[in-house]
Amino acid sequence: MKSFRVPKNIVFGWGSVDYLKQIGGSKAFIVSDKTMDEVGLVNKVKDNLQQAGIETQAFVDVEPDPSRETVEAGAKLMQAFKPDWIVAIGGGSPIDAAKGMWVFYEYPDISWEKVFSETPKLRNKARFIAIATTSGTGSEATCAAVITNRNIKPVVKDVIASNEITPDIAIADPELAASMPPKVTAATGMDVLTHAIECYTSIAATEIDRALALRAIQMVFKSLPKAYADGRNQVAREDMHTASLMAGMAFTNSFLGIVHSLAHQLGTMFGIPHGEANSLALPYVIKFNSIAVSEKYAEIAGALNLQFEDERDAVDKLIKAILQLQQDIGLPHTIKDSGIDEKKFKSSLDELAQSAINDICVFCNPRVPSLQDMKNLYQIAYYGTKS
Ligand SMILES: NC(=O)c1ccc[n+]([C@@H]2O[C@H](COP(=O)([O-])OP(=O)(O)OC[C@H]3O[C@@H](n4cnc5c(N)ncnc54)[C@H](O)[C@@H]3O)[C@@H](O)[C@H]2O)c1
Ligand SMILES: [Fe+2]
Repeated sequence: MKSFRVPKNIVFGWGSVDYLKQIGGSKAFIVSDKTMDEVGLVNKVKDNLQQAGIETQAFVDVEPDPSRETVEAGAKLMQAFKPDWIVAIGGGSPIDAAKGMWVFYEYPDISWEKVFSETPKLRNKARFIAIATTSGTGSEATCAAVITNRNIKPVVKDVIASNEITPDIAIADPELAASMPPKVTAATGMDVLTHAIECYTSIAATEIDRALALRAIQMVFKSLPKAYADGRNQVAREDMHTASLMAGMAFTNSFLGIVHSLAHQLGTMFGIPHGEANSLALPYVIKFNSIAVSEKYAEIAGALNLQFEDERDAVDKLIKAILQLQQDIGLPHTIKDSGIDEKKFKSSLDELAQSAINDICVFCNPRVPSLQDMKNLYQIAYYGTKS
C-alpha cells in the first residue's frame, strides 16, 4: 500500500495570507523570529487573525536551527495562554520550533526521546497553521521538524518525523518571501532543489512524489537566478515559493537522502546555513549515487533539456548545470571556498562523518553509504573535483 499525505488545506499564491481572516477559533499563539517581527510580518498575521475575531499572543525568539530550550520555552507560554490555534510564520526554523512546541503543549510531561521515537496523537488542544516566508524548507507542508541538541558534543540535529506534526493548514504566500535578501534567497532556493532531487531518487518515492519533484526542479532552474538577481520579480518569487511547497509535499512522502545527512552536520559544526550546506554537498552526492540511479538523473537532465549522449554523460551534465546555478546565485562550489578553515575541517572530519552516518536521512538514500564513504564525500566537497 502506498500513501500520499499532505496538509488538509493548502493555500498558495500572491495574497494568500489573507486566508487567515476567515478561520474560526478563539486564541492563536504565533511563533516566529525577530526578523519577521522587524519586517512587520508578525503584525500582519496578528491583524489578519484579529479580523477573524481571534485573540493572539506572539513568541518571536526562535533562532536559526532552533534548540530544545527554545521549544520548551515556547511550550510553557502556550500552556499559560491555552491557544486553539498555533500559527507559525517564518522559515523552517520558526515552523519547526512551533511543531516541537505543539507536542510539548499537548503533552507537558513528555520526554524528548518519546517525541522523536513515538510522537503521540495531537489536536486535543490545538490545530496548526504554517506560513512560509522562505522559499526553501517546505516545512509548511511536511511531517518533519529539525531540532538542534546543543547539550551534547558534537552538537546534533534531530528530526521529529511523524504525520501528527503535518500542519492542518499550509500557507505559501510569495509576497511574504519578497523581503528575503539575495543570500537567503540563494541558500534557501538550493534547499528546494536538494529536496526535489533527493525525493526523485529516494528509495521510498512514488510516481506522485516524483511528478511534483520534477516540476519543482524545472521551476528552480528557471526562476532561482531571476529571484536572486531581482527580488522584486513577482513571477520568479511566486515560482520559487510554489516550487518550495511542491518539493515539501513531495519529500514529506518520499523522505530525503545523504545530501541532507552531510549538510545537517555542516550546519551544526560550522554554522553554514542549511540550504548552502546542501548546495555544497549536492553535486558530489549525485556523482556518488549515480552508480545506483543514473537513469533517474538522466530523467532529470532530460526534463531540464540538457543535451547528453548516455546516462553517464547525463549525470555529468546535470552536475555541471548545478555548478553553473551555484555560480549564477553567488554560492561557493566547495566547503573550502565557503570559508571553513582547513585545519578545523580536518580535525572535525571523524566527528562529521560519524554524525552523518547516524543521520535519519541515510535510510532513503538510493546507495547505502559506509562511514568511509561519508568521510570521502566530505573531503571531495571540501576541495572540489572535476565532475
Ligand atoms: N521541517 C522540514 O521539513 C525541514 C526541511 C529542511 C530543513 N529544515 C530546517 O529548517 C531550518 C532552516 O530553515 P530556512 O532555511 O527556512 O531558514 P531560517 O528559518 O533559519 O531563516 C534564515 C534567515 O532568514 C530570515 N528570513 C526568513 N524569511 C525572511 C524574509 N521573508 N525576509 C527576510 N528575512 C527572512 C530569518 O529571520 C533568518 O535570519 C534548518 O534548521 C533546517 O534543518 C526543516
Ligand atoms: Fe532541507
